[in-house]
Amino acid sequence: MLEITLGDLTDQQVEALVNAANPTLLGGGGVDGAIHRAAGPQLRAACSLLGGCETGQVKSTPGFELWARYVIHAVGPIWQGGQAFEDVLLASCYRAALAEGVRLGVRTIAFPSISTGAYGYPLALAAPVALAAITDWLATQPHGYTLVRLVCYDTTTLAAYQAAEAALGH
Ligand code: APR
Repeated sequence: MLEITLGDLTDQQVEALVNAANPTLLGGGGVDGAIHRAAGPQLRAACSLLGGCETGQVKSTPGFELWARYVIHAVGPIWQGGQAFEDVLLASCYRAALAEGVRLGVRTIAFPSISTGAYGYPLALAAPVALAAITDWLATQPHGYTLVRLVCYDTTTLAAYQAAEAALGH
């Protein structure tokens, strides 16, 4: 069910990709930029109709030129030192994205490492929060997922999620 892999999120042949977006939902750098480049200009046009998105929440669009049918745009917290409920907001992104995927009727979904790039969330702190949120949600919520994949863009990120997975005992 839960896979942790090295790769490019835009290459994943899953039904929904989760984007690490910003509150405007109008694109950016990092994985947000990669998804918009791969999906084509219709993605930004669709996003522009959504009225933005709060931190910790998600909004979805079609995937347009992506293999994936949907993009679920999640807005992660900007790291502020750990005293601004960043962990709660980060966990909320993963849980809300999984719930949105159920609403959309998808069975395969892929995530990036939300907030650990431009948003500065320390990787060693984000990985356990992300994996605990995903595994707890999958264990307690009704769903039809056959694959939940966390796609790491570099080996440092991969190692952090693998270490977090080992620590979870999963
Ligand atoms: N596939 C998978 N992961 C990727 C890709 C990609 N093509 N490109 C970058 N990443 C990884 C980064 O290496 C990092 O591990 O995604 C993780 C999240 O980094 P960011 O994309 O910078 O996202 P985040 O830290 O959540 O910051 C969001 O950056 O791009 C802007 O518009 C976005 O303002 C928002 C902010």
